Amino acid sequence: MPTWKATACAYSNIAFIKYWGNINDELRLPVSGSISMNLDGLRTRTTVDFENDLKSDAAVIDGKELPLGPALDRISKHMDYVRKLANNPHRALVISETNFPTGAGIASSASAFAALSLATAAALEVRLTERELSALARLGSGSASRSVPGGFVEWYAGTTHEASYAESIAPVDHWALTDVVAIISKAHKATGSTEGHSIAASSPLQAARIASAPQRLETCRKAILARDFDAFAEVVELDSNVMHSVMMTGNPALFYWLPTTLTLMETVRDLRKQGVGVCYTIDAGPNVHCICAPDAAPKVIAALQNIPGVLELKQATAGGPAYVEA
Ligand code: DP6
Repeated sequence: MPTWKATACAYSNIAFIKYWGNINDELRLPVSGSISMNLDGLRTRTTVDFENDLKSDAAVIDGKELPLGPALDRISKHMDYVRKLANNPHRALVISETNFPTGAGIASSASAFAALSLATAAALEVRLTERELSALARLGSGSASRSVPGGFVEWYAGTTHEASYAESIAPVDHWALTDVVAIISKAHKATGSTEGHSIAASSPLQAARIASAPQRLETCRKAILARDFDAFAEVVELDSNVMHSVMMTGNPALFYWLPTTLTLMETVRDLRKQGVGVCYTIDAGPNVHCICAPDAAPKVIAALQNIPGVLELKQATAGGPAYVEA
């Protein structure tokens, strides 16, 4: 007898080698692989409840009921994949809470769709392997595939649904990196990632980015496995810069940075010149993720906290896998 109701948690993740652009937007099959670290404590907790025989899906996100529209449709469509596997047509109430600002460069869709995937599969008693859960989460949001396994994670691009999934390349305790996220805006970004991915191919730089991605993936993977911070810092900043170059040269051009973003990038580079182990990476928003080598975070925080425009600094070390609450 199915439980019809389950709760799951998943952490957000920060990509060191980025996902930007798909070969198939519908299935979210990316143009290249990506590598990330889950972010401990930056979490979404989602309950999916099929118990009340609802006429249509409903969702309460951070205490507010979602109106009918694209956000609710995206959740419904995602649960349809699991309903199909379970051969179960019932509708659900989704209650979800995320403990960090959404839509501003910390991937909330990653933790949200990873948690939704696990909770829906558990509620409908669909037994999936970690790999299958990762591929399922990918259908909701590409980066969510990387929030299913724990620690340091690589998403293999693949060219089919089954082959495009993420797995751990190193466990949580492999390397004590800290992501110090400098939040400079909590506003919802103007152009979301999904739209951004579909614009990527219009940049004349995207072909070069795709062609050179395997090299950066290899350099990054090796640097993580060897805990080589210098090699890591170089490739992480390069990959972020390459992605933002694509964003800025597409049609329409996407500029996610604010003036304070550039100030922070410069500060991070200066700190590194002074021997502090830190590098930056930036997603589809203005906030700057400052990835700190073990023990470097206090120095980085001291240097960043008084920069005008920095609203808040959040810290996260490597996080574990997504899990279903008992
Ligand atoms: C810049 O996973 O948010 O953060 O698949 O459309 O939901 P959708 O996009 P999303 O894209 C993430 C883009 C990025 C880079 C990354 O996390 O790899």
